[in-house]
Amino acid sequence: MIIKPRTLFLGNGINHMEKILIAGGTGLIGKKITEMLDKERYIIHILSRSPRTDRDNIRYFQWNLDEQHIDEEALQVDHIINLAGAGIADKRWSDDRKKQLISSRVLSAQLIQHGLEKAGLRPKSYISASAIGFYGDSGDQKMLEEDAPVDDGFLSKCTMQWEQAAKKLKPLVERCLIFRVGIVLSRQGGAFQKMLMPFKAGLASYFGKGDMHYSWIHIEDMARIFIHGIQRENMHGIYNAVAPNVATNKEIIQSIKQHRTGFSILNSVPRLALRLAMGEMADVVLTSNKVSVEKLLSTGYTFKFPQIDLATQHLLQDH
Ligand SMILES: NC(=O)c1ccc[n+]([C@@H]2O[C@H](COP(=O)([O-])OP(=O)(O)OC[C@H]3O[C@@H](n4cnc5c(N)ncnc54)[C@H](OP(=O)(O)O)[C@@H]3O)[C@@H](O)[C@H]2O)c1
Repeated sequence: MIIKPRTLFLGNGINHMEKILIAGGTGLIGKKITEMLDKERYIIHILSRSPRTDRDNIRYFQWNLDEQHIDEEALQVDHIINLAGAGIADKRWSDDRKKQLISSRVLSAQLIQHGLEKAGLRPKSYISASAIGFYGDSGDQKMLEEDAPVDDGFLSKCTMQWEQAAKKLKPLVERCLIFRVGIVLSRQGGAFQKMLMPFKAGLASYFGKGDMHYSWIHIEDMARIFIHGIQRENMHGIYNAVAPNVATNKEIIQSIKQHRTGFSILNSVPRLALRLAMGEMADVVLTSNKVSVEKLLSTGYTFKFPQIDLATQHLLQDH
């Protein structure tokens, strides 16, 4: 459920529409949040590394992490959502790439922190993305927010540093929230697009035995959860953001096969082939995470797509 527009009455006859900054708002999740917030008539600021053209209630600001440059006006908002970071599954994980994956996340939080400190600004909330990769390869174990990672793989190390950087904003805002995001399913890109690729060659491919648990989430629920986080003033701290019904890799592929038109043969891609092709980055698809979403549900969030069949059916239907 989305609460109606946040218009604050200023007492002088002027209503103040709430402003929200989305750092990294040009990506998969950011675009969906922007689309939803725009309908809610918020004023949206977006931080991007490239220049972009403003439209209606949306203003773009450029920032530069290496030079630690940020426009103070971008930060004059009621809420900040930070989604910025180099794509985890975009390139093989060389040592340089690993540094970039961490630094793009840590430096973005630091730049916002230093910008707020310098300008003496105090927004109501800072909401950072993190990832369920935090927990490591946790197999069948149901992971709660307070659980420690089960291994010290790169995804755990990266998310730990990311979350530490986010927590440094706590003294500067009324509320600091971190969403550990699951595997986002969207027609616009990310994991779902990659899962669909073999289908073009008539193959419904899962990995190894396909028994890894994937804590997935539909893009619409993901965007609605960030907005829920803005609007629920009693929420703070860390929340897992995944659908309540975790599915295995094979179950997701079977669900796509069922709802997609066209012929395909179910087949397994050996784990070793993935390791050879992707190197350490194969962790992204071979890791098993069964993550609890009880804490988020207890805040009153209702999922639009709680089951994988509902999600794949929606994503595959013609719009
Ligand atoms: N999608 C998922 O399945 C998933 C799962 C778990 C966690 N997450 C996390 O949630 C966040 C948002 O996800 P998303 O899918 O929307 O990501 P995305 O589509 O890759 O977008 C992230 C944004 O970050 C900015 N960015 C890229 N490289 C950067 C760099 N080197 N330095 C600073 N900014 C950079 C880009 O904006 P500009 O090019 O405009 O600067 C981009 O639009 C990410 O941090 C991601 O790791 C996503």
